[in-house]
Order: sequence, then C-alpha cells, then structure tokens
Amino acid sequence: KRRVFSGIQPSGDVQLGNYIGAIKGWVDRQEEKENYFCIVDLHALTVPQEPDELRHQTRSLAAMLFAAGLDPEKCTIFVQSHVTAHAEACWLLNCVTPIGWLERMTQFKAKAENQESVSTGLLDYPVLMAGDILLYDAHEVPVGEDQRQHVELARDIAQRFNHIYGDTFVVPVGVIPEIGGRVMGLNDPTMKMSKSYAHIRGHAIRMLDDPKEIERTIKRAVTDTGNEIRFSDEPERAGVNNLLGIYKVITGMDEAAVEAEFANARGYGDLKSRVAEVVVEALTPIRERYEALMQDVDALDRLLERGAERAQSVAGPKLDEIKQSMGLILRS
Ligand code: TYM
Repeated sequence: KRRVFSGIQPSGDVQLGNYIGAIKGWVDRQEEKENYFCIVDLHALTVPQEPDELRHQTRSLAAMLFAAGLDPEKCTIFVQSHVTAHAEACWLLNCVTPIGWLERMTQFKAKAENQESVSTGLLDYPVLMAGDILLYDAHEVPVGEDQRQHVELARDIAQRFNHIYGDTFVVPVGVIPEIGGRVMGLNDPTMKMSKSYAHIRGHAIRMLDDPKEIERTIKRAVTDTGNEIRFSDEPERAGVNNLLGIYKVITGMDEAAVEAEFANARGYGDLKSRVAEVVVEALTPIRERYEALMQDVDALDRLLERGAERAQSVAGPKLDEIKQSMGLILRS
C-alpha cells in the first residue's frame, strides 16, 4: 500500500475548508492506503498560543478527526510532540536547508507581515513539516492548495539530502484536490477560508456550528448579481463557484451532474438552500460523534497513545538512519 502522511494544526476551530480540502479525502481513501495523520502541536507554537487553550484544542482536534470518520484501526493518528523524532529531524534537515529557501515561502511572508515579532520557528516551520513527511517515507501528502509550496520544499529537501548523503528519503508528492483544494471565505470569496478568521461572522463554516448557524452563514454568502449556476474561474463569479465546489465535494457528484441539478434552479437562493442542506446533513453526525468522544477524554488519550507508539516505531528507526547518514554516532 502507498504510504500517506498529512498533518493539521490544533490552532483555532476546524473549518469546512480543512474538511473539504484535506480531511474528507483522508477518510475516503483510508482503505487503500497506509495512513499517518499528525496533529501538529509543534507547528502551532510558531505563533503565540494560550497553553490551556492549546491543550484543549489538541484533544478536540483528535476527537474531530475520529468523528469525521478516520478509523484508528486503519490510520495512525498521533500528536507530533509525542514523537520526539519530529523535532530532531527538523534540526538535522535545518542543516541541509539553505535559508533562502525559507525566506521565499509565501506563507511565511504573509504570516510574518501580521506579527509584531516573528519567531525563528515561523521561518523554520516548513523544515519541521518536511521532517514530518520524510520520517515516514510517505509517497503521498494529501493537502489543500495552500500547502503546495511547503510540500514542494519537502521534495527539494529530500532530493538535496539524497544527493549529499546518498539515497535516504522517498521523494513525496503533494495530492491536491482540483475542486475543493481552496475553499474560499463565504464573506469574501477572494480570500481563502481560514481557521484564523473562523471567529469572524459569516467567514467560515466551523465543523461544530449548529444547523441554524450553518444555514445563516451560507444564506449570507457573498455571490454576484448574475443568476447563472455553473462552475467558473472568472473572478467575479468566485462566490458561486465556491458554493458549487462545496456542494460537489460533499455530495461526491461530478461537475456536470451538479450543474445539471441546478439547471432549473430559480437563482442563487435555491443554490444556497441546497448547499446548506447537504452541509448540515454531512456535519450533523460528525458533530454528534465529536460530542460523544469528548465525553471520555481518557479513552481519547489512550487512542493517541497507541497512535504515538505506532508512529514512533516508524519514525524512530528512520531518525537513526538519518543520523547515521550524516555521521552521528548512535547510542549503543
Ligand atoms: P492547516 O492546519 O492549516 O490545514 C489543514 C489542512 O487543511 C487544508 N486547508 C484547506 N483546504 C482547502 N480550502 C481551505 N480554505 C483550506 N484551509 C486549510 C490545508 O491545506 C491542510 O491540508 N502546515 C500544515 C500542517 C502540516 C502538514 C505536515 C501537512 C504540518 N506538517 C505534513 C502535510 C504534511 C497546516 O498548517 O495545515
């Protein structure tokens, strides 16, 4: 089986973009693959976090991943900081990564712009991410469009390392959905839907929003003054295109079938009602399972412990291999 690795940060509320761009694909393909999904708490630390809140968000995200349908028998789900190889791999890879590669990262430039003080961790973020992926010899990295550049960097680092020290890493490929890879903000379809703005009214559907709130947000979604319901890459039609993309991924229909379904719709109001309906239908059982899982935090912690053990059994030996390649002496 092809090995899959992906990660998600426990910062802010999980939103529909995370689900559509990443989590749903992980769930749908979990049978075909050998899966590692990491809750990247070390990545979350690259911007200021409230410690109690981070602890809560980490468990909450774990519950959300299981609730969304990831099966602990088929997927290794674990917390990044529980497997110390990740932080160590980051250091080792730092030493083969030119700093210019990091300064060019668009996400770094965007995030650094909004910070009074930029941590070294924020610059180093993509190297930690490269370590995540390379420690598992993952072939595929299913992510949303916004992570494309980071996955490319992981490939570059793998190739550079292999070139310097000999074949050590699988060179991973990013797997990015063509539709749904970039879910846009409902209040502003020129902006990516984001956890960091999930608290702004009308911006995001959060996975735990109740049906009324989901309906309200979708009904208020910004569209255009036209009435044609079809997929389009014209900037002024981005709002409608976004709603159609959400509908397509949630229902699993193809584009032609989606357009045919709305051929006789009376304007965007109909479209919005149907989108709200299928989103509520998809998220309600997830929210219910989430609430049940959060009732028993000990059971959740045990699942994460098992995940960490399995992850460690792959990452530990790989870390030793990296160290050996680089000339470090292993403890006897
Ligand atoms: P994060 O936590 O920001 O997002 C988790 C996943 O959700 C995707 N995503 C979206 N997809 C479509 N539309 C959107 N509006 C949208 N917003 C977010 C992201 O692309 C991502 O796939 N750096 C990563 C976490 C990470 C990682 C890794 C991923 C750390 N190590 C190793 C893959 C492999 C991040 O911050 O994702």
